[in-house]
Amino acid sequence: MKVKVDKDQCIGCGICEGVCPQVFKMNNENIAEVIVDSVNQQDKEAVKEAADSCPVEAIKIEE
Ligand code: F3S
Repeated sequence: MKVKVDKDQCIGCGICEGVCPQVFKMNNENIAEVIVDSVNQQDKEAVKEAADSCPVEAIKIEE
């Protein structure tokens, strides 16, 4: 599974990093970045939870 953050949509709320810091990290501009090439099996549920929790739906999951 792959995941992306739409930088134009992200408002920097930081929920994704809080839910799944293994995959999401806030950058210097307070925009979330994905720090892995692909999501581990064990992180999938947390990534889905982060995507569901993002208030602007900036997290895009690609199966
Ligand atoms: Fe941005 Fe959404 Fe994460 S607004 S910081 S991608 S939860």
